[in-house]
Parts: sequence; structure tokens; C-alpha cells
Amino acid sequence: MLININDKEYELELSLDMPILWVLRDVLELTGTKYGCGKGLCGACTILMDDKPIRSCSVPVHIAEGKKIQTIEGIEETPYRLLQEAWIKEQVPQCGYCQSGQLMSAVGLLKTNPNPTESEILDAMQGNICRCGTYPRILKALNTVLENS
Ligand code: FES
Ligand code: FES
Repeated sequence: MLININDKEYELELSLDMPILWVLRDVLELTGTKYGCGKGLCGACTILMDDKPIRSCSVPVHIAEGKKIQTIEGIEETPYRLLQEAWIKEQVPQCGYCQSGQLMSAVGLLKTNPNPTESEILDAMQGNICRCGTYPRILKALNTVLENS
């Protein structure tokens, strides 16, 4: 199958039921996307498919055919790198494990709603669990980006 990841086309031969997370990490070695619960519950594996956040551990790769996948590796060259910079400035990550998924949910939010209210931010980010409790810093980093845009 043909799959578009971070604006690059990949021709792959694999089981069409393989979760996208496995394709990213094990086949393409794009290990920025993390495995947490494997059940669609924690948000650690969040990526974007056609600009919408999805749980890559729970979506089979055939669903991605003809769509655009974006992962944490793909935001460096986009305006959304400002989120990464704000994350660093506000020292958001603790253990860091959830943060790739957090950032991709934040990118997904700003792609569809460039000027969200606080309640829209909380709503968009609520599916991403952080065992280190970085939620206030995530909010601060997002607000920094919004204030400067
Ligand atoms: S690893 Fe996919 S939601 Fe937890
Ligand atoms: S920073 Fe450790 S789980 Fe979120």
C-alpha cells in the first residue's frame, strides 16, 4: 500500500490490519510516536490523520491509505515548531513520555481552531493523560503561543 507520512510517500508491503503505530515505530523507525496503553485510552500515540488527532495504536494502517499522516517528526519544518519551542521555554516535559502525543493534539487543535478559548483547549487536550501532571504547564505553553501569534 501507499501511505503519505509527513508529506513523504512510502510504498509498503505489510498486513493491512497492522496498527499505524507499529508501522511508524517498527517499520519506518519513526520512534517519536510513543506506545502507552495500546488501547486508545492514554493518548501517548496521538498523530494526525488529515489534520485530526487519532490514536495510532488503535487504527489499522489501511484506514490511512489516501490520507495524510503527520507525526511529531513532521512538525519541525512547519509553523507548529513554535509549540515545541514554547514547550521547551515553559519546561513542560517531566518524564516526557506523553509529550509527543500532547504536542500532536495541540497541533491538531491549532490547525482546526487557531484561536481557541481556554475551555476549547481543555476540551481538545483532555484525552491525553500525563502521569507527571504537566497539565498547567501545557496550558501555559499553549497560551504563550497564542499570545505571540
Ligand atoms: S498507546 Fe494509544 S492511546 Fe494509549
Ligand atoms: S511528562 Fe511524564 S507522563 Fe507526561
